[in-house]
Amino acid sequence: MEVIIQPNQEAAASLVARIVARELRANPHLVLGLATGQTMECVYRHLVRLHQMEKLDFSLCRTFNLDEYVGLFPSDPNSYRHYMNHNLFRHVNVDPRNTHLPNGLADDLDQECRCYEATIKRCGGIDLQVLGIGKAGHIGFNEPLSALYSRTRVKALTPTTMKQNGPFFGGEDKMPRRAITMGVGTIIECRRCLLLATGASKANVIARAVEGPITSMISASALQLHPRSTVIVDEEAAGNLTEKDYYRWIFANEPEWEEYR
Ligand code: GLP
Repeated sequence: MEVIIQPNQEAAASLVARIVARELRANPHLVLGLATGQTMECVYRHLVRLHQMEKLDFSLCRTFNLDEYVGLFPSDPNSYRHYMNHNLFRHVNVDPRNTHLPNGLADDLDQECRCYEATIKRCGGIDLQVLGIGKAGHIGFNEPLSALYSRTRVKALTPTTMKQNGPFFGGEDKMPRRAITMGVGTIIECRRCLLLATGASKANVIARAVEGPITSMISASALQLHPRSTVIVDEEAAGNLTEKDYYRWIFANEPEWEEYR
């Protein structure tokens, strides 16, 4: 795992967008894993700008989102389908038929989960997965105790997540209690992982995920098992990390990061 510390949220999000752009330019057929949440909005703003100003081309890429609430219509402003259309898809030249999110309205949710896995496989697997992190340490909606080998499935949300996301629905009692999420096993099978966390509210969970033991209590800690995972944080989210100087040295000196400095 590599950790890159950027001075602020803007710089951290811009770095994630530039890495995505570079991978997309190198492989226009990229299979791109996407995430939702407030942290990602800034990344999507940068990607839209790169599309508009530098002709970043999404026409051949395929996308798979991590998760979707159970029971929300795509038109619901709180659905992740709506979030993705609003923040990214409608502003770039991605083919809507190539954008995938789990269908939280499916009659048979277990079958929908199996289908989602099969579609990812049919597309050749995910090349680059972008991730945020919830306050409970989750990636996607892999709440505490999610098996490290878990696959796409329905997951009940924890009180911490209900509290974090409840305000968007006008209260916890109005939000779905369950979501479909890629599993931890699905996520760590992708070829490259990029996790972005910003702000002081993520400092504690980032320290546990990056420098703590691998545990299903913090599903993001499973990224320690991945051969190519990068965690990008701003100074605030890096606040509780103990090896900050080492991480800074790597970004400042390793040739791999030269073009991004
Ligand atoms: C939700 C999503 C996660 C995301 C998290 C963080 O729980 N399912 O994939 O990482 O929100 O959200 P934010 O960036 O708003 O803190």
